[in-house]
Amino acid sequence: MTNDIQYNISLRPYNTFAVNAYCKEFIKIDQETQLPYLFKDLFFSRNFFVIGGGSNVLFTKDYDGLIILMANKGIQHFIEGNYIYVTAKAGEIWNDLVWYCIDHDFAGLENMALIPGTVGASPVQNIGAYGTELMHVFHSCQAFDTLTGEFTTFKNSDCKFTYRDSIFKSEHKGRFIITSVTYKLGLKQKINTTYGSINNELSNRKIANPGIRDVAEVVSAIRVEKLPDPSTIGNAGSFFKNPIIDIKEFKILQEQHSSIVYFPVNDQQVKLAAGWLIETCGWKGKVDGNVAVWKNQALVITNPGSASGLEIYTTSSKIINDVYKKFGIVLEREVNIL
Ligand code: EPU
Repeated sequence: MTNDIQYNISLRPYNTFAVNAYCKEFIKIDQETQLPYLFKDLFFSRNFFVIGGGSNVLFTKDYDGLIILMANKGIQHFIEGNYIYVTAKAGEIWNDLVWYCIDHDFAGLENMALIPGTVGASPVQNIGAYGTELMHVFHSCQAFDTLTGEFTTFKNSDCKFTYRDSIFKSEHKGRFIITSVTYKLGLKQKINTTYGSINNELSNRKIANPGIRDVAEVVSAIRVEKLPDPSTIGNAGSFFKNPIIDIKEFKILQEQHSSIVYFPVNDQQVKLAAGWLIETCGWKGKVDGNVAVWKNQALVITNPGSASGLEIYTTSSKIINDVYKKFGIVLEREVNIL
């Protein structure tokens, strides 16, 4: 097992910010059966961090420990009644899974087309986009417990999913390594075009009765237009979460800023568009040394060239300060900071 470990590896190819940090040790996991060997060799008693597509992590310094790249592959499905259960290994690229499902006519993932990252990361932060969240299609996942050395299964209700959050990010942070995920999808196509821009784009294309393929294509087109492609401009998608605040606090803010963008969550809470807050503070498209805020979406911080992780982090702190000064709201980073 120790033969598979590489030393002093640049993490630039393994994080979508393309930050050039180094790690002390690195291992690529092609089979989950490698994990018990790492356990026996006591690697989990020291510093370790698991990555998939590296699309939600910012290395602000070199990593003094083992980086575990999950690269196990395979997709299987079986049909039961009106449902299809699709199981994908953690190292599968998320968008490949989305298109596997579309090609087989399995409905449910199409609104999340082109989200960067891997299957293994999808439950960790309950990925979501354009009106759908992973928690609505997640059935269960298999994970390796780095404390006990055993494999275990988590059902949907075990994961405590909320907006961009799960137990894998909170109470069990860093403990479990997700090795595969099973999604429960529909055979009957129920199209979700609640997100306004999907409908606009469908009518631009003169598509009156869209299927899941149309939705995936439209969502992909919207993403390409709005969000920078990490293979050409380093970024990790939304850098911050959209803050959820109390409705009373919101009413006061709305009196001061009548154009504030928000989405109702329930009777007591609203979610604010962090992109609007950041843009209103003058950050959209702004260049800060080696770092830039994306011109079409202020929620995305980019590395146009040679920014270090620390520089990106520093820019994010300036944004947090400015938003706090103007609106009294503390933005929370969505990206994992290491
Ligand atoms: N807005 C602005 N200025 C901006 C950006 C947004 O005013 O610079 C306002 C606009 O009014 C816009 C609204 O905010 O209509 C919402 O913007 P958008 O549709 O781009 O969605 P978002 O809330 O900014 C979230 C997710 C994205 C996801 C989109 C679409 C979070 C943190 N981000 O962004 O997810 O693609 O919705 O569903 O929830 C990601 O997590 O990496 C990600 C890209």
